[in-house]
Amino acid sequence: MTEILRTVDDTRSLVAGWKRKGLTVGAVPTMGALHEGHLSLVRRAKAECDRVIVTIFVNPIQFNNAEDLAKYPRTEEADVNLLAELDVEAIFAPSAAEMYRDGFGTKIRVGGVADTLEGVLRPGHFDGVATVVTKLFGITQADKAYFGEKDWQQLQVVRRFVADLNLPVEIIGVETSRAENGLALSSRNARLSSKALAIAPALHREMQKAAEALRDGGDKVQVLQEALEAIEAAGFEKVEYLELREASALKPLDALQEEPARLLAAAWLEGVRLIDNIPV
Ligand code: PAF
Repeated sequence: MTEILRTVDDTRSLVAGWKRKGLTVGAVPTMGALHEGHLSLVRRAKAECDRVIVTIFVNPIQFNNAEDLAKYPRTEEADVNLLAELDVEAIFAPSAAEMYRDGFGTKIRVGGVADTLEGVLRPGHFDGVATVVTKLFGITQADKAYFGEKDWQQLQVVRRFVADLNLPVEIIGVETSRAENGLALSSRNARLSSKALAIAPALHREMQKAAEALRDGGDKVQVLQEALEAIEAAGFEKVEYLELREASALKPLDALQEEPARLLAAAWLEGVRLIDNIPV
């Protein structure tokens, strides 16, 4: 049976019982509105851990835009049903007041990898993510925690502060789940009209073409400019960035080198901000 927990104390005592029995705990932090991408994280956690706890919390302190927070889809009943089907042992779904009690005054600020791309365009976003994820690790006492590669920079930020703060949790990145047409699954896709849903796969398609051109020795500036223009010509309102970066610290690259590289993009479609990334 899937237990739904609303308080930190109840979660801690359930997990303490598991730990007393020597069971390993896997956590899957989410903001709900679950789709196949989240479920792939849960299946992986179920396969690798004795007990799995999924957290569902739309974290207000990681939104730098009040409208985005208000519009974030909330589908708890459907989420609970999906997780029960996967035999998840527990769901931690607290209120904002439970997570941020009166007088809350701590913020985790990650430097380096958090200070570029999304970190510049969404000031404070990664502080909010790092703060809530650190709290969730403390509450769930997870041995392993699962994050989607779709939010590649977030995954690198989490790896950074977990290493820096010596947190006793193993971070597992799970490959992005995609629709057949290549569109990365995202809770934000639910806000797109059918017309926009037909345009959206162009982001991944053009990124793949660009990655191939870069691998074939194409000039970075020219390849990325052509891809950007093709994405906008396909119907996106604006490409916010399309960048070739070294894969872990996300340092800018002028050209492909020996080290693993990643192509990362953010683009607006029908007022919805989509992000994607692929290895190059
Ligand atoms: O990726 C998300 O859904 C969120 O940023 C996370 C990791 C659950 C923190 O709120």
